[in-house]
Amino acid sequence: MESKQQTLDRILGLGPVMPVLVINEVADAVPLARALVDNGVRVLEVTLRTPHALAAIACLAEAVPEAVVGAGTVVSPEQLAAVERAGARFAVSPGLTPKLIAAGRDSALPLLPGVMTASEAMTAAENGFTRLKLFPAQQAGGVGMLKAIHGPLPELRFCPTGGVTVDNAPEFLALPNVMCVGGSWLAPDALVRAGNWDEIGRRALAAAQLRPR
Ligand code: 3PG
Repeated sequence: MESKQQTLDRILGLGPVMPVLVINEVADAVPLARALVDNGVRVLEVTLRTPHALAAIACLAEAVPEAVVGAGTVVSPEQLAAVERAGARFAVSPGLTPKLIAAGRDSALPLLPGVMTASEAMTAAENGFTRLKLFPAQQAGGVGMLKAIHGPLPELRFCPTGGVTVDNAPEFLALPNVMCVGGSWLAPDALVRAGNWDEIGRRALAAAQLRPR
């Protein structure tokens, strides 16, 4: 059977960019996911920042089977259990706590915990988490930080998120310890609220075509 690390490698290897999504209306979930998936962006992080996030995850898991839907902003064991029940395929947290580490180890759902320092990354690795979200990536030191941490901690792989843009993503993607990047620029709130699926689709297409530089 595939390990949780192998599952994360497979999922995060599906595309260079994982959009961070904030879904205010469940009715937006399917057209938003379609705009992304139809343009080559299959792995979606639906954040638990809105009251309807769990319903949106459940809806997408059912209605858009080509999408690989994960849950973001998971900060408690209860939320980890809830997103698994909703049908999320993986979970992302902005940081790690002892409770979340324990829940992540016990859960069948792969967890991508957020870290910002070498010590946090080492704590994660000690607990079996070697696939990590670097958050907030730019504020943590961005490309320079990831280059520096690769020497002492070469087994770790990151999805930098926070301050990543279409312009700087290629520099992150060129690093040996970066699997993919995350960002909200594909589907910012204003475009989602306006139902501007065409522009989101254009941004998805450009993101899917990003290459290391
Ligand atoms: C997140 O919400 O996980 C990240 O902060 C997204 O960061 P961005 O808005 O800078 O892409």
